[in-house]
This record gives sequence, C-alpha cells and structure tokens, in this order.
Amino acid sequence: MSKRKILITSALPYANGPTHLGHMLEYIQTDIWSRFQKLRGHETYYVCADDAHGTPIMLNAQKQGITPEEMVKNVSVERQRDFADFSVEFDNYHSTHSEENKELSALIYNRLNDKGHIKKRTISQLFDPEKEIFLPDRFVTGTCPTCGAEDQNGDSCDACGATYSPTELKDPRSAMSGAIPVLKDSEHYFFDLPAFEDMLKEWLHSGSLQAEMANKLEEWFAEGLQQWDISRDAPYFGFEIPGAPGKYFYVWLDAPIGYMASFKNLCDKSGLDFDAFWGEGSDAELYHFIGKDIIYFHSLFWPAMLDGANFRKPTNVFAHGFVTVNGAKMSKSKGTFIKARTYLDHLNPEYLRYYFAAKLNSGITDLDLNLEDFAQRVNSDLVGKVVNIASRCAGFITKKFDGKLSDVIMEPELLAEFQNASDTIAEHYENREYSRAIREIMTLADKANQFIDAQAPWVLIKNEDTQEQAHQVCSLGLNLFKVLLTYLKPVLPVMAANVESFLNTELTWESAQTPLVGHEISKFKALMQRVEMDKVNKMVEESKESLEAANKPKIDPNSPLAKEPIADEIEFNDFVKVDLRVVKIAKAEHVEGAEKLLKLTLDLGGETRQVFAGIKSAYAPEDIEGKLTVMVANLKPRKMRFGMSEGMVLAAGPGGKEIYILNPDEGSEPGMRVM
Ligand code: MSP
Ligand code: ZN
Repeated sequence: MSKRKILITSALPYANGPTHLGHMLEYIQTDIWSRFQKLRGHETYYVCADDAHGTPIMLNAQKQGITPEEMVKNVSVERQRDFADFSVEFDNYHSTHSEENKELSALIYNRLNDKGHIKKRTISQLFDPEKEIFLPDRFVTGTCPTCGAEDQNGDSCDACGATYSPTELKDPRSAMSGAIPVLKDSEHYFFDLPAFEDMLKEWLHSGSLQAEMANKLEEWFAEGLQQWDISRDAPYFGFEIPGAPGKYFYVWLDAPIGYMASFKNLCDKSGLDFDAFWGEGSDAELYHFIGKDIIYFHSLFWPAMLDGANFRKPTNVFAHGFVTVNGAKMSKSKGTFIKARTYLDHLNPEYLRYYFAAKLNSGITDLDLNLEDFAQRVNSDLVGKVVNIASRCAGFITKKFDGKLSDVIMEPELLAEFQNASDTIAEHYENREYSRAIREIMTLADKANQFIDAQAPWVLIKNEDTQEQAHQVCSLGLNLFKVLLTYLKPVLPVMAANVESFLNTELTWESAQTPLVGHEISKFKALMQRVEMDKVNKMVEESKESLEAANKPKIDPNSPLAKEPIADEIEFNDFVKVDLRVVKIAKAEHVEGAEKLLKLTLDLGGETRQVFAGIKSAYAPEDIEGKLTVMVANLKPRKMRFGMSEGMVLAAGPGGKEIYILNPDEGSEPGMRVM
C-alpha cells in the first residue's frame, strides 16, 4: 500500500449561530473519513474554518451591539468546543476573516482579472432607503408575482414554488426596516463562469463525481451557465476588492478560498509545503465534504476559480443529505432542533457518531435520526454486542490468569475470518459506505458472541481440567474484540483509546493482523453505558425550552407583564401588515345603551372612518374632539351591536381614567404612518 497525500475539508460553518445536529452529520462524516485515512497510515490533513463574512453576520452583530469580529470570535470558541467534545479532530481550524484568506482571495481575484475573467456591469438593485443598504434577496419580502401569495421571500415563493428576482415582487418591503425599497444602480463585478464550460465538462467526466451531482451539473449546463456576481457594496463585512474601493467580495467568493487559507495557516505553523497540495499538477488528493444545499458553489464556481487562477482542482466533492429528526425537518417547537451543546449535556457523543455511521452511505439522501431507533440501535449493537465481548472475557483473564492472555490461539480460522474482513471494510470506509462497514463489523461481533456462548467460559472456569480452555476462549474473545475495535476506531475514537489502554497496545489498521499472545492486559473498566430514553427525552424537552428561555427576560411579579404576559412572538412580516395611522377625532358621540363605548368619526386626512372605541371611562366626547390618536387603518370592518366599526383606535394606559390620546400639538398630522 503506497502512502497517499490527502487533504480533506468540511464546509466552513457560518459564524452566525450555534452548531446543531444537522451540522454534526457533516463534521462526523468527514472526521470518520479523516481518521480512517490516518489509521491506514496515509499523510492526511483535515482542515476547516469559520465562514465569517456576509450581510447576515454583519446584521446579527449589529443587533447584539458588538463588532462582527467580536461576534465571530464568540461563536468560534463555542463551535470549536462543540467539535472537540464530539471528537471531531481538525489538523487546523481557522477563519475566513484572516490575513491568509485576504491575501489568497486577492491573489486569485487578480489572476482571474488579469486573464479577463472578471467583467463589470451596472445593475439595478433594491435598496433600503432608511438603512441605506442594498438588500440581499432574503431581506426583501412582498407579494409573489406569479400566484399573488403575500409575504414571500425575495427569491422564491413558498406557496407556489416560483423563483424570481426580488425586483419582480409586488409591494416589496425591506425586512430590515419595513421601508419600501427603491431601485438603485451600482456597478458590480462578475466572474465569467461561462468561459469555463468546457473545462467543467471535462472535470465532470474525468473524476468519479456522485451520480446525483453529475446529473445536477448536466442540468446546469443545459440551462446555460451564467456570469456570477461576486461583488457587494458597502456596508458589508468582508474583504474590499483590490482596486475597487467600496466594493467587497461576496461571501461565497472568499469562503471556499478559506479552505486554502486554513491549510496555508497550518503550513506556516508546521513547515508543510502549501504548493505540494494546491499547486497545479499536485499529486496530493483534495476532497471537500459538503451538504447537498451547496453543491452549486463547490462543483461550478470553485473548480472554475481554481482553474482560472492556476491552482489544482478538487479530486472530488462529496455531498451528503440533510438530517431529519423523527421523520421530519428539525423543528424548534417540537424540540428536535437540537444544538450540539444540548446533546452533549445529556448524551455520550459516541452514540451519535455510531448512529450516523450506521446509517451513512455515499449518496445525498436525507438521514433520519429517529430517537427511539437511535437508543435501540446503540444499545443493541455497541453495548449488547461489542462491549459485551470484552466484559464477558476480561474478568477471568484478570482474576484467574494474572492479567495475561494465552500463548495459544485456539481457533485460528475464526480469527482469520475477522482479519480477512479488513480489505472489505476498508473499501466501504474509503467509498463512504459507512453503513456497510458497520454491518460487516456487527456480523463479526455476532460471531464472536456465538463463539463465547458456545464455549461458555463461565462454566469452563469452574473445573480444573477445563480452566486452560477457558483461558484460551477468553483470550481469543479479546483478540476478536481487538480486531473489531480497530475497525471501529474511526467511528469511536474515545472507546478505542480506552480499549488501547485496557489491552496495552495501539490499534492500527495493520496491527489487526497480529494477535496478542502471552500479552499482559490492564484491568477492564466499563466502556459504555446504555442509552437511557429518559435522557433522550430530557434533551428534547430542553431543546424546546432553551428557545423560550432565551427570549424571555426575568419579569418583575408586580409588573403589568406578569399579569398579562406578552403574546406569542409574531414575524416581522406579520407586523408590517398592520397599517397604523395618525387620525384626528373629528367627532365623538355617546352610544345609546353602551356602557364603555364612544362612537368616533376619525379623519385620516382625506377619508373618514367610523370606529367604536372603549374609552368612555376616560373621556367625555367633548374632551377629545379635535385631538389626535393612532388607529389600525387596515383592520377589516366588523359589525358590532351598534353598527359597523371600521378600524381600531390605539390608546395607551391602564384603562379607567388613564387612557392617553395625543394632542394635536404633538407633532403629528392625520394620515401619517406610524412605525
Ligand atoms: N458557510 C457555508 C459553507 C461555506 S463552504 C466554503 C454554509 N454554512 S452552514 O453553517 O450553513 O452549513 C455548514 C454545513 O452544514 C453545510 O455543508 C450544510 O449543508 C450542512 N448542514 C446544515 N444543516 C444541515 C442539516 N440539517 N443536515 C445535514 N447537513 C446540514 O453553508
Ligand atoms: Zn407564488
């Protein structure tokens, strides 16, 4: 087996929010592959970084009242703790907001530009006149131009599935301020993707891309490749484009360059040769693990950028599907949107590593984390089968045979069967068919247990004549266990490390072929507890609560909020539907038979409305005529006992005598919109 040079990456997580179990699928999948390659003795590096740039991160930091740099740092500390606790072991973890990335982004851009692959063009985009910022698609909402559904996003309609550009939306609004966006011109920089069509087609056919990815690429070629807008106007958190003041690289331009930057950072620390991995003609292998949602960026733009800038292209891009929980999309209200940290507070991370491995294959179908099945599978496979082998054999070796394994291998064919599975299992790992590897391993575990059951060392040990046989049975049992743990080591690094100290030996892929004979072992300690459904349920409960808790500040029991809690959160989109206007109370009259109501005639500055308002306790009609108040102007008219009410008056106060209405001298005029 010749030694390969392998560089592996996972997608760079947005430095914008906590790690959840969906993310963990990717980092666990990649980590298993990286550990597998290392276990096989290949020169392997696994790097990652925070994806720090872009508008959402900038706005999120603003909301928290800190700089984006600070926010990115905070998220990164938590994130790296999550990864470490799940035994996701990077050789380097960096950030796209780094010197290395800035330099490499500029280098790549300049090379593309020198070759004429950057085009400039003025485009007209929606601009928020209040916030003075161009609006990314997802920050514009409005009515779908196709089906008329209201409150749709700027790029696609949830109701009819249409996709469009935000300028096509009817009644567009800025989701940042609620302001009506205006069209504004600006010069943008484009990467000339169509120029790379032939190269990409060749790349598509040269490698062994996943079938689903190859199909997608064919579709995109058929639709025709488009130039890619790589610039954004200030204010933007990112890198300024060289020679273009006020223009910034779109986050997706410098994000994949972050793979290189993280590796560069590692090279500078460790003396590795950067060009040996990224230079044109490099003989190293380069793999990107990603989710199916970001295939476009990794299979079109990224290879094209690398090719155009004289770097090598990825050997392959491996996409995976999405995690669902209990058969449905992860949901905050059901408690199935589970943060990595919440999981870690309740459960052993190796349970999840095992469960994902047991279900992962090389495709992009979604993976369901069914929590009942999760508990059952881990308990029956890991605790019931694998650990059981050791716990049934170890005690006798320690107590009866001075902790020493037998000099004899009693059934060499059985051991050979375990050893011979090595290549098949390796192939499954290599092909990212982890579920197949696990199936092979569990079939072997069953065989080991059958052997022990049939031999019943607990019976053999009682009789002087058969004690030596008991010694051989338990020794073979532990040797079989050793082979299994070697095969499982990429998936269960913590358990494997404990087994290494228990067996006093290092588990490498090769050493699986060499049994331990006459070898001294250490005292056996419990390797894994059963999954308790109680803890799983607690985790789900906490995932429900943590959301509410996070949003709810402590309330003074005497405050009005304690007596009448604030109603359920509404979306901004719902709020902007409420059209609040300043109105003048043109006329106020008593209503025959009504105790609390006054009948108001409201002047909106061009239109009048009749509204019944429950403010009689505070005002006599003559007190409020001529004064201003605020009304909900677009409330659907309601038929009341005393007539139609065409809106609602908003007045603040505890009721009774104290309900506040504005005076005309307070700076408002009828018809003004209130925000
Ligand atoms: N920042 C980009 C990637 C840039 S790579 C140059 C990004 N970040 S992300 O935080 O949204 O997602 C990180 C990875 O997690 C992506 O590969 C994404 O597909 C994956 N997943 C996010 N949610 C997921 C699930 N629910 N299930 C499985 N993977 C998921 O995209
Ligand atoms: Zn629609």
